[in-house]
Amino acid sequence: MVKVLFVCLGNICRSPTAEGVFRDLVAQKGLSNEIMTDSAGTGDWHVGSPPDERAQKAALARGVDLSDLRARQVIAKDFIQFDYVLAMDRSNYAKLQQICPPGYEDRLHMFLNFFANSPEEEVPDPYFGGPAGFDYVLDLIEEASVGLLKDIETGYLGR
Ligand code: 4NP
Repeated sequence: MVKVLFVCLGNICRSPTAEGVFRDLVAQKGLSNEIMTDSAGTGDWHVGSPPDERAQKAALARGVDLSDLRARQVIAKDFIQFDYVLAMDRSNYAKLQQICPPGYEDRLHMFLNFFANSPEEEVPDPYFGGPAGFDYVLDLIEEASVGLLKDIETGYLGR
């Protein structure tokens, strides 16, 4: 089983959106028994909460249901459990570097590194903006998810 963890700040906007989009892609490819997904936040303010209503609405408009997801905080042990720990922005990345146990650094990546020629290095935080921000987050996440799946298929699943 390949395990993938998406990480943002609050775990209510970007990382649950990435989890939902990638989970659906994995299911469409018939790989749900081979790839496990989860998401977490570097902060603890929203622990136990479902994704932000605006994130849920924007995702559902593209057929992605996030309603079962609940926020949790990332922990150091996640680096031992997950093969991929994917930061949405540089600030998340820096926080994750601080808690990463020695020897597990190669599991940490910027998520948009899997989007070749991405217009952004970071998935912008949509929390304090309008609905367009949530749509843009989805655009970036959809592309990066395709690249991530290719990376897993070639690197781990031997396809
Ligand atoms: P996320 O967005 O990191 O994409 O889940 C945010 C959610 C909440 C806050 C900031 C960003 N907040 O400040 O509470």
